[in-house]
Amino acid sequence: MEVVLLPTPADCGQVVADAVQAALTGAAGPPAPAVIGLATGSSPLLAYRELVRRHREEGLSFAAVEAFLLDEYVGLPAGHPESYREVIRRELTDAVGIDPARVHGPDGSAPDPLAAATAYEERLRAAGPVAVQLLGIGANGHIGFNEPGSSLGSRTRVKTLTEQTRADNARFFGGDVDAVPRHVLTQGLGTILRAEHLVLVATGAAKAAPVAAAVEGPLTASVPASVLQLHPHVTVVVDEAAGSRLERAGHYRYVLEHKLADQGW
Ligand code: F6R
Repeated sequence: MEVVLLPTPADCGQVVADAVQAALTGAAGPPAPAVIGLATGSSPLLAYRELVRRHREEGLSFAAVEAFLLDEYVGLPAGHPESYREVIRRELTDAVGIDPARVHGPDGSAPDPLAAATAYEERLRAAGPVAVQLLGIGANGHIGFNEPGSSLGSRTRVKTLTEQTRADNARFFGGDVDAVPRHVLTQGLGTILRAEHLVLVATGAAKAAPVAAAVEGPLTASVPASVLQLHPHVTVVVDEAAGSRLERAGHYRYVLEHKLADQGW
């Protein structure tokens, strides 16, 4: 696991954008269809803004991209402004020209959410491995909406949000906790682990404890993000505040400073 400790959230956005760009342009020659995995919430927003800038000003192409969302609320009607499909359209995919038909997410408005979960898992498998999967982390250590106690091998399924996560996300619903759905569809931890490169971004002091637990604590379903310790290629990108409880912070800085030129992310 590589931990990249950076001074500011904007610096984090640059590195996350670099990792996505590497997945899109890594191989020489015409771009092959790249499958990327997108997170919603606040954490990836600066990276998305930077990707939009690179698209507009530097010609970074998303033409051959298939995008898959991590999760979705159950019960919000299609087109609801806070459904993750709408959020990602607003924050990234429209602005970089990804055809909506190539943006996939679990169908939270389906009459049968259980079947929708299975269908999404199959769709992800058929699309082939996700080249780069972006992740945020919840205050309770969740990734996707895999709340504490989630099976480390889980697949896409329906989950019930904790009251803490609903309270945390109420800010997107005008502060009204009751408006935050109780249920979600989320890629499982086992599903997330199939991606080739996992990039977790966290900023701000509220993320310091879950980041430290995920990176330096024991592997446990009580901290779902600790499952990243099992994956061969993980980049954890944090600002000073989110990294403030990391015991090995000095070593992470030392490693970054002495990174070999062709090591990449
Ligand atoms: C969102 C998601 C969640 C968030 C996490 C952090 O698609 O899967 O795990 O990444 O709740 O949210 P923010 O970034 O808003 O602090």
